[in-house]
Amino acid sequence: MADRVTIPDLLARKRDGKRFTMVTAYDAIQAALVEEAEVEAILVGDSVANVVYGHETTLPVGLDEMVAHTRAAARGRKRALLVADMPFLSYQPSIEEAIRSAGRLLKEGLADAVKLEGGAHFAPTVRALVQSGIPVMGHVGLTPQFVNIFGGYKVQGRDARGAEEILEGARALEAAGAFAVVLECVPSELAAAITRALAVPTIGIGAGRACDAQVLVFHDLLGFTRRGRRLPRFVKRYDTLGDRAVEALKGFRREVESGAFPGPEHAYEMDAAERAKLEAASAPRSEGADLHPVEGRG
Ligand code: KIV
Repeated sequence: MADRVTIPDLLARKRDGKRFTMVTAYDAIQAALVEEAEVEAILVGDSVANVVYGHETTLPVGLDEMVAHTRAAARGRKRALLVADMPFLSYQPSIEEAIRSAGRLLKEGLADAVKLEGGAHFAPTVRALVQSGIPVMGHVGLTPQFVNIFGGYKVQGRDARGAEEILEGARALEAAGAFAVVLECVPSELAAAITRALAVPTIGIGAGRACDAQVLVFHDLLGFTRRGRRLPRFVKRYDTLGDRAVEALKGFRREVESGAFPGPEHAYEMDAAERAKLEAASAPRSEGADLHPVEGRG
């Protein structure tokens, strides 16, 4: 096993006041790219439902798909901590089901840890997972699996009551053994308060700069998102690889149409003697010659 980033390493970063990053990846090449950038943690997010499968919400993605994407990402990572999201209804029905689902993400998906959405209500689930040897990252604030309860993707915890509930949720997850907590789409003041209150790292997405770490979705930060999908305000695009990919694809199409591709450098050659035999065999035959004489005919 390469020199892996471990959970104690991330806890130490919080203690030492050293920020870190997490980026999503859903296959081996994406994980390898994230690795090369020396990002500390890779999240196989259930956002795969949006950015890979094209769904409006994360709800349709299932455990089998998450296991397959996690296993693919595991092949591309070397050093980063690999965290897999528990998809909708893979942990809500019962603690036993949560342990079985998370167990598959570690045993078959080769993840190091799982992430689940929800606050204090899920603390007993987190405790049971941790007691089973499965490290858990919590996720509070705008938890996309609750989109139908929230009535859309809205900032959470804007009033003191809502903010306190999120703070208490984060505290309960930590007390249950979560090793980090994602804070999604909450006011910066609330994220700062939670970051002060917890000994484990907070990982922000739309939660301001006070968090101990930041996470973004691979496709969003690289500018792969297409079809007019509106990006949330919290996304910063560090490139426009989608536009660049379209330009490259157009270049391929144009060169095929003009005959410029493939050039001799992209083609293979026969040696001279073999070419001569082929030329002889492919020379036009004299008119009327029987190409396929059949013995005994006539
Ligand atoms: O699924 C995901 O990508 C996530 C991040 C946005 C934190 O949960």
